Amino acid sequence: MLKITDTDLPNIIELKNVTQVYGKTDNPILENVNFLVENKPAQGQFVVILGASGCGKSTLLRFIAGLQKPSSGEVLILNKPVRQSGIRAGMVFQQYSSLPWLTVLENVELGLDFQGVESKERRRRAMEMIELVGLAGHENKYAVYPTLSGGQLQRIAIARSLIASPEILLMDEPFGALDINTRLQMQDMLEDVWLKFQPTIIFVTHDIEEAVYLGDDIYIMAANPGRFVHHVSVDLPFNRDREVKHSAHFNELVRKVEDKMIEVAEMSRKN
Ligand SMILES: Nc1ncnc2c1ncn2[C@@H]1O[C@H](COP(=O)(O)OP(=O)(O)OP(=O)(O)O)[C@@H](O)[C@H]1O
Ligand SMILES: [Mg+2]
Repeated sequence: MLKITDTDLPNIIELKNVTQVYGKTDNPILENVNFLVENKPAQGQFVVILGASGCGKSTLLRFIAGLQKPSSGEVLILNKPVRQSGIRAGMVFQQYSSLPWLTVLENVELGLDFQGVESKERRRRAMEMIELVGLAGHENKYAVYPTLSGGQLQRIAIARSLIASPEILLMDEPFGALDINTRLQMQDMLEDVWLKFQPTIIFVTHDIEEAVYLGDDIYIMAANPGRFVHHVSVDLPFNRDREVKHSAHFNELVRKVEDKMIEVAEMSRKN
């Protein structure tokens, strides 16, 4: 079980003894999950979650987004129950989640719809965001495959989640379905976005290199039942570019995480 260290810093995301049971069974998907992300002053944080398929990662993100309540336990944002926190959390789902009957521009503007932003200003900010995610020139196309590629549809979802400047950004395998070049481009785009807005990002992936490249903190989950079992602190420079992947330390970290993943897979089988 992972030991949680709670320092004097404010707690931005906190899960306390969270258990989830689906249906009529005695086997919880998640059992007594404890998790803490502290709010470091003047910097966002990039937290990565790794864990086997089905261990409950997407379920955890839905709790933090306030889309679902756990069977038991507490989910706190800045020490308040998630729906009372007043914090803006954006979510990029595992499946593409753009609305195909709207254009790219309308999809991105939707991210501001509930904030009462005046339409001209909404358009201006949406165009700025479209530019940032590399979709300029596509703004009037419908957000539908194959008019736009899978990678482009995912950029729309990212732009929509970013436009409201969320304090917390939840990203569920956002680059999982992309080809390798698009994936690398998106990683660097996200790195830029993160430096610019500094939200707290909780990012789920199955790709260890991606985890080490993007993350400051990596948390590894075991399955059956799902819970956090390891934390790896990524002590690489704050502002990274792809060169860092050639460094010995980067590769050491990848190996370290890989070894822990293998150990955790064994552990999950035994239970
Ligand atoms: N609404 C639901 N009703 C019943 N079972 C569910 C529900 N949502 C999730 N589950 C089950 O809970 C388990 C965890 O699901 P979850 O989607 O959180 O896993 P995950 O870690 O995100 O997996 P993956 O890496 O494949 O995306 C799975 O066995 C899934 O079938
Ligand atoms: Mg999932």
